[in-house]
This record gives sequence, structure tokens and C-alpha cells, in this order.
Amino acid sequence: MYRSHTCGELRPSHIDQKVCLAGWVHKTRDKGFVVWVDLRDRYGITQLVFDEERSDVSLLEKARELGREFVVQVEGKVIERASKNDKLPTGEIEILVEKLKVLNKSLLPPFTIEDTTDGGDDLRMKYRYLDIRRNPVKEKLIFRSKVTMEVRNYLSSQGFIEVETPYLIKSTPEGARDFVVPSRMNEGQFYALPQSPQTFKQLLMVGGLDKYFQIVKCFRDEDLRADRQPEFTQIDCEMAFVEQEDILATFEGLTRHLLKTIRGQDIGSFPRLTFDEAMRRYGSDKPDIRFGMEFGELNEVAQHKDFNVFNQSELVVGIAVPGAASYTRKEIDALTDWVRRPQIGAKGMVYVKCLEDGSYKSSVDKFYSQEDLQKWAKITNAQPGDLICVLSGDINLTRTQLSALRMELAERLGLRKTDEFAPLWVLDFPLLEKDEETGRYHAMHHPFTSPKPGHLELLDENPEAVRANAYDLVLNGNEIGGGSIRIHDQKTQAIMFRHLGFSEEEAASQFGFLLNAFQYGAPPHGGIAFGLDRLVAILGGQETIRDFIAFPKNNSGRDVMIDAPSPLDKEQLKELHIRLDLSS
Ligand code: AMO
Repeated sequence: MYRSHTCGELRPSHIDQKVCLAGWVHKTRDKGFVVWVDLRDRYGITQLVFDEERSDVSLLEKARELGREFVVQVEGKVIERASKNDKLPTGEIEILVEKLKVLNKSLLPPFTIEDTTDGGDDLRMKYRYLDIRRNPVKEKLIFRSKVTMEVRNYLSSQGFIEVETPYLIKSTPEGARDFVVPSRMNEGQFYALPQSPQTFKQLLMVGGLDKYFQIVKCFRDEDLRADRQPEFTQIDCEMAFVEQEDILATFEGLTRHLLKTIRGQDIGSFPRLTFDEAMRRYGSDKPDIRFGMEFGELNEVAQHKDFNVFNQSELVVGIAVPGAASYTRKEIDALTDWVRRPQIGAKGMVYVKCLEDGSYKSSVDKFYSQEDLQKWAKITNAQPGDLICVLSGDINLTRTQLSALRMELAERLGLRKTDEFAPLWVLDFPLLEKDEETGRYHAMHHPFTSPKPGHLELLDENPEAVRANAYDLVLNGNEIGGGSIRIHDQKTQAIMFRHLGFSEEEAASQFGFLLNAFQYGAPPHGGIAFGLDRLVAILGGQETIRDFIAFPKNNSGRDVMIDAPSPLDKEQLKELHIRLDLSS
């Protein structure tokens, strides 16, 4: 037996007991006549004591030779500590060591294994296994495990069964690039890693499994951001004989269960916004509704005056920033510079200060009267003391720009509270999205998403007006899940493919297996997939998913610890029938 207790376990009630502990040497303090060692494991820290009076001289010598992160096993007696440490749960006791065994030595770690470390990002990624010894990283992984367990508990209690689907498959239609794997046995042919198990879960419904879920890795070769990794995990779900309401109720239930069990919060029924409404009110299809600052459209009151910038704009839209009327000229200039950065791309920003005395001071006072500005204030719901920020231009672009400003200001004003959770459903997404470059339509969600009842007929005359039976679950300004009711009859699927520009041959070669399956009694079905990494991060009060993944990739998609991706040797390439020509 390596240990009788963990390093987080012992309390005054254990005093006088003989115990055996194992762990890592966290810290050593040598006062000459006495040596203290903090012994650490996953569960906590326990202080060991070796002293001249009570310990063997050779034991004291051995303790002095311990280095940081050595792995040791000790036997000894639990005694009361002379000076107690109320910051440690084990701070009232220590172990008077009688036997010390070094199980393994350690090199000096490249950064300190403390809650706040001196190690930079790159170094910590390279030695991720050491970083995991640190509390903040370890706790996030434990937290993730807890969330995952609750997901499994809930879904199993609702009759879902977990089924594994293959990783070596054919390209799936989620819209990102595939990671591909060459086949040694089939020269010139490649598997694709799944961007999601979408087609398989639909086949499981044809197979009659009725309620499926899987906590599953998905792979997408796309540009990385704080909330994106090339391999990430989904809670992937599908149900047969359901309509949109059934799916929303089931997964609202799951989310509510998680908020309750993980964060102790009771949330009532989730608000719902249509995609169009979300865009109009927040400029985003994943609005953060923990705070106000809703958009006020000002075309009617700001156009047809002498201010040409607005007259020439498709949309004039503003938000009221609470308490920001006190911003100095310099602060407002900095905000204007912020929206003009290439990442945001606004041409400029008009502002109105709503002063405490009920008057207004704006950057366009030349063009607008106090009565005009009062109307702006009414529409944007601005109160005395607020600052109205107004952007204008092309509808979609301006909304996106103002949404970015809204989120930035909310962050700066501390309105994005990490212990507050505001989930909502966004419904009625457009079925199709136009690729401005090619002029072609592609499925906004994926090609198996069904149009809303009655919308199929609109496909020919007004494809952009067609709404999908698709929904996203949004939490605190992040898309944490998305899904749809699927097309389950071959005729509708054929119409969809035609509109997406697939010839019959293309559709058959890419999705023939699914279309075939649909001829054998496919039940009506639908589903959803949650991004587990995002969900866990947000429940944990953060938005960077990397910290909640044991071995994440960096921003260039590299694992710097194992050094991947990396070249293959010639023999391996030959076996895979791959000839590299790096010159072109
Ligand atoms: P979708 O593509 O919306 O739907 O993905 C579902 C959820 O997965 C998360 N997600 C990601 N998380 C981290 N890194 C990424 N690169 C990444 N990409 C997506 C998001 C997203 O909401 N098959 C459909 C689901 C369905 O229709 O049932 C699908 O994959 O949180």
C-alpha cells in the first residue's frame, strides 16, 4: 500500500494516528534544527516535519536532500501543529516523519508549480503535464469531469443511450475543412475525420435507436480562436419522432440540470428570439442578454436632415452605454479608434452625451436639435448620464460592428458577470446563406436541416426568406449548441440538394448511403449538439476553452508538447502512397 491517506485528508481528529502518505515535494524549508516539507498530491498539501530532537539524524539528512517535485512516500505520526495555518484544510496538523522513501527524483521544473506561476504560455504548454499539477489547471479538468458526468447522468435518466460512431469516415457536411487520413490499403484514397457524427446519428434513428447521445471528439480544420480548437468535444444528440418543441424542452432540461447541479442556480424557462429579432436587437445571433444596451434603430429620426453620412446609410443604429456620459473627449476618441480598427472596420462613431440636467451634447450638434436628440434617447432607452454610441452603414456590417462595441463596453463596464447565467434559444435561422464570392447558396446549418413548415415552397422565388427548423442554444453571448429538425424524406432532400447546387451524381456519391437509408422507413427526427468545451468553460466562468482541455493545441494548431504535426519519414510516406512535392 503506497498510502493510507491523501495529502488533503488529515485533520486534528487523526492526531496520534500512524499514517502513510505519498506525493510530490512542493516546498522544503530548512531551519537547521528542523526541516519542513510540504507534500502535495491531487487532494491537497500536508506538512511533514523532521527535527533534530525527535527524528533520526540520517532521516533529517535525507529530508535536506529532497528537491522540488521529487516523488516520495513517508510514514509517520499525525501531530498537532505548533503554528497553525488556517489557509490549508490540513493546516492544524503535521506529520512527524519516521520513514522516508524517495520513489522518484525530479529535474528542477522549468516553472514554479504554484497557483500563480512564473511560466509563460508557451513553456507551460510544452510541459503541460507539469502545468496540470497546478491547482488552477487541475481544478478545471476536475470541473470538466464533473460536468461530463452530470451530462451522462441526465441523458441516461431520460432514456438516451450512448453509441460510439466511427472516426475514420467520409467527409461530413459541417462547412469547415476536413482533416484527412491516407489509407495504406487503398492507394490514393483518404478517410476524413468527422466534423461531427451528423450523418451517423441520423442513421441511428433510421436504425430505430430512438434517443442517442455521444460525448465525442470532432475535428475541424478552421482558423482558431479562443472558443475554437481543431479537435473539440460535442455532446451529440438525436431523437426520433420529435418536433422542435420536444427537442427544446429536452435540452432546456439538460441545461437547467447543469446550471443547478454545477452552479446551484435555478433558471426559469429560457427566452426565445428569432434570428431576425436577435440581429435587430443585438446585432448578433448569439446575444449576451445579461445586460441591456439593446439596439435602437434611428433611421426615422436621424435621416433626412443635413447629415449626409446618415442619409446615405442603409442603417443608423445606436446603443445607450450606462453611465458613460462622463467619458472625456480622449476616452471617446479612444472608443472611436477602437471601432475603426480593421478588425471592426467602422468608418466612425457619432456620440450623444445625455447630461444629468436632461440636455444633450453630441458630436453632431450642428445637424440635430435637442428635440431630435431626445428622440434618439427615447429609442435607445438612454437615461441621463448615459452615452449613446451610433454607427451607420450597410445593415449587416453595421449591426456586427455595433455588436462588437456593445460586448467590448459591457466587458469594460463589468456587466459580463461570470456568476450570472442567461441562456436563450435563437430560432428560425435562414436555411440558406449566400456565398458572396461565388454567388452560390449553401446550407447555413447543414444540408439535412428541414425548412420550417410551409417554407419549402419559397425556395424557388425567394431562397433568402426561407427559414429553417433550426435552433441554437446561446449562453452568455456564446453559441453553446445548435441543431435542427432533419429532412427525413428523399423527395425534400433531393429538392434541397438541387438548391445547394449538388447534381444528382454529386449528391449520390457524397451522401448516397444516407439517401438510400431514407428509403427504408426513416422516422421523423431531429437533434442538437452542444460544444462541451465551450459549455464547460462558460459554466466555469470563462470563455477560453483551451484551459479546460487537458492537452490543447496552440493558436497555430500545434501541440508543442509532442511536437505535432510533424513530417513523416520516407518509408511511411511510401507505404501510404504519398509523394511530397514541396517545390510547387
Ligand atoms: P455545430 O456545427 O453548430 O452543429 O456544432 C455544435 C456546437 O459545437 C461547438 N463547436 C466548437 N467548439 C469548439 N471548437 C470548435 N472548432 C467548434 N465548432 C463547433 C459549438 C457549436 O454550437 N451536427 C451539428 C449538430 C446538429 O445539427 O445536431 C453540428 O455539428 O458550441
